[in-house]
Amino acid sequence: MIKKFTVIGAGTMGHGIAELAAIAGYDVWVNDISDEILLNARNKIAWSLSKLKKQEALERIHFTTNQEEALKDTDFMVEAVIEDIKVKSQVFNKASKLVSETAVLASNTSSIPISEIAKAVDRQERVIGMHFFNPPVLMPLVEIIRGEKTSEETVRIALDVAKNMGKETILINKDIPGFLVTRIMFRVNEVGCWLLDNKMAEVKDIDYTAIQVLQFPMGVFLLQDYVGLDVSYLIQKALIERGFEVYYCKSFEQKYNSKEFGMKSGKGFYTYKGKIIEPTL
Ligand code: NAI
Repeated sequence: MIKKFTVIGAGTMGHGIAELAAIAGYDVWVNDISDEILLNARNKIAWSLSKLKKQEALERIHFTTNQEEALKDTDFMVEAVIEDIKVKSQVFNKASKLVSETAVLASNTSSIPISEIAKAVDRQERVIGMHFFNPPVLMPLVEIIRGEKTSEETVRIALDVAKNMGKETILINKDIPGFLVTRIMFRVNEVGCWLLDNKMAEVKDIDYTAIQVLQFPMGVFLLQDYVGLDVSYLIQKALIERGFEVYYCKSFEQKYNSKEFGMKSGKGFYTYKGKIIEPTL
């Protein structure tokens, strides 16, 4: 029986996962490192809930910078902090000391094997991957990843939670870096990035091809602006460090170093002026 539901990290993904959990009826606790980030998350959730005409769900969400308070006796945690094994391990280690006896500890990681994250906790059978997509409220799929020690009971509970959130699931039984979705996405990225890095094609032409010829709903680079280029860069790093042989996108590194993170910073591969999008390269 899940009553208390905790989301650690209230950024692009965390605030959306918290919104989904509140709509599903859970008592939700959201934690991040500053009041400013939490207020921003609250505003985004309130805006989205009003569009969905589900404003009452906001009353079920508590926002706190106190991680202990958010994790204490919780029944289900989803971690959505940055894609860095050190930061994720700290969160899982702290969580394992505070959550309820039977709690499930899920990570929204895009690339880091679940078994690697699970090493930070005592009861590794309770750790699982729950990979939501952006924006969580609208995207229909959740990729569920079984770590080497994840129990059947943990898989069952995670599948139930995703179902309660109205999501479809794919269950990944092999805990490899990038699982299924991220591996496919980075194969697509590598073709676009290689063409761009080597000045073979421009952003707008690669994206035009993806949309008009391949029938993608979004261009390759527009999607990465939407994901966040800080996030894409860290995912690329995590994948390559773990042996996934994918082209190292220099354009991602360049965007990361110049803090052009995409939509969230107003500039990435495109610039964002209100709703007008212009390619920057
Ligand atoms: P983000 O950068 O928007 O949000 C991360 C949040 O975590 C920030 O608000 C940050 O302040 C907070 N944080 C960092 N350390 C913390 C700590 N110790 N305690 C509490 N909060 C902390 O990143 P985003 O995009 O939400 O990504 C989060 C995770 O979700 C990553 O693992 C990423 O790979 C994954 N993901 C991202 C997707 C995307 O489209 N952006 C899609 C699917 C998964």
